[in-house]
Amino acid sequence: MTAVYVETREIPISDLTRFPGNAKRGSVEDIRASIRRSGQYRSLVVRLCDDGALVVLAGNHTMDALAAEGYETARCEINTCDEQTARRINLADNRLAELGEYDNDDLAVLLSYMDGDYEGTGYTEDDVEKLITPPDLDGLDEPDEDVEKPSLADRFLIPPFDVLDSRSGWWRTRKKQWLSLGIRSEVGRGDGLAFSDLSMIDPNYYRKKSEVEQTLGRGLTHSEFEAEHYVPMETSLRSGTSVFDPVLCELAYRWFCPSGGTVVDPFAGGSVRGLVAGILGRPYLGNDLRPEQIESNREQRDEFVQRRLLAADPVWTIGDSADWVTVLEPESADMVLTCPPYYSLEQYSSNPADLSTMTHADFDAAYARIIAGAARALRNDRYAVIVVGDARDSKGALHDLRGATIRAAAAAGLTYASGAVLVTLAGSAAVMAGNVFTATRGLGRVHQDVLVFCKGSRSAAAQACGDVSTHLPEDIEGAFAEVDETADDAA
Ligand SMILES: C[S@@+](CC[C@H](N)C(=O)[O-])C[C@H]1O[C@@H](n2cnc3c(N)ncnc32)[C@H](O)[C@@H]1O
Repeated sequence: MTAVYVETREIPISDLTRFPGNAKRGSVEDIRASIRRSGQYRSLVVRLCDDGALVVLAGNHTMDALAAEGYETARCEINTCDEQTARRINLADNRLAELGEYDNDDLAVLLSYMDGDYEGTGYTEDDVEKLITPPDLDGLDEPDEDVEKPSLADRFLIPPFDVLDSRSGWWRTRKKQWLSLGIRSEVGRGDGLAFSDLSMIDPNYYRKKSEVEQTLGRGLTHSEFEAEHYVPMETSLRSGTSVFDPVLCELAYRWFCPSGGTVVDPFAGGSVRGLVAGILGRPYLGNDLRPEQIESNREQRDEFVQRRLLAADPVWTIGDSADWVTVLEPESADMVLTCPPYYSLEQYSSNPADLSTMTHADFDAAYARIIAGAARALRNDRYAVIVVGDARDSKGALHDLRGATIRAAAAAGLTYASGAVLVTLAGSAAVMAGNVFTATRGLGRVHQDVLVFCKGSRSAAAQACGDVSTHLPEDIEGAFAEVDETADDAA
């Protein structure tokens, strides 16, 4: 016989009977803490016996904790069943929770949301410390009190949480250090163009102009707009392509690509992903539609080769990646790292194969084909990292590139493994935010999405990546140290 549900109701605790012979000895103190913080979030399971007795099959210690916390009644789910079923339920309720196991990564992430306030969860600070500390520190069985435990930052450069803050002091210093090597990812389009032709240099020129016109409710001449309203791009952005963050590159390679593993990038854009890969010893194959961009990337690579900064030389090719991905060797790459156009937010060229010139539907279809091809080129048990942001169309509607990426990746057989928000400097968003918000209630965009996918098994992919190395080649470390000493605004 199975149990038959009767009803759920509040019952005076004094009317309840403990299950005779309950073998479990629960921690009433911990349950009391949970009740204090979260209340009674689950009913006791009670058997209504033939003689009218109400016997607690599941939740005997919760009943004790409720009584100790001053509750006079407990919410109970009442069932009828025979004696043998009652015993089976009591045994199962105590035992079944013990039989599962934990994904410690997911547990650590969940606990991190508690911001150190673990009361009522059953966890203590010590438990959390143990969870995030490697079990076999320096190979010693007994932890030596004198050995300082490595912090998350020591082990992974920064704690591997799902908010990556590029405004932090550490990040800004690291970015300066990378850029001090002479990475000029912004070069490739518009370089050498007369700065007076702003619309040629700033890909957002027309969007900015129409936003100001909308706010003012009237049209503007170019000279009026440029003289009174134009917010210049950062120098590093005056090229027609937004610049991918070298620190994000570094983290992506160190965290998600095996040492010496090959990276493929179907929307290569500027040089940064290739150069950082080369410095960190990962062979890189990047493809982009724009010849001028790739030529400029190759020039930078040649300069880096001459300066002996590269442990692996990045290779860039020119063409439509919808074709390029079909000639990539299947299962040959150890990582995909890429950053597609954010719909038509920035238009990179007038080439009809350029995704940034396409309608949203055509973009999604071409994008899905390219992601599928890149996924085919990826070995099993490896990661793909795709950095995206939502973009507005000319009517002001926001388009969900994050969702489109997750759908394209799923169709390509990639599992959405984790995602982080990359918090970016407000920059020109800070200048425009007031007007844009007043006019449309649009919120200033100060983040991008870093989406991590896995082909195969997450744990096998993590194993393939091995321990995260924070090591830098000697020359690079020397150059970084010089910037470290001069960094003033990074604190
Ligand atoms: C977001 S950008 C990459 C910019 C990147 N954030 C950087 O660091 O320079 C996207 C790139 O995709 C390229 N692209 C667009 N459609 C393409 C296609 N069908 N095949 C190859 N590249 C394409 C554009 O030329 C552009 O350089």
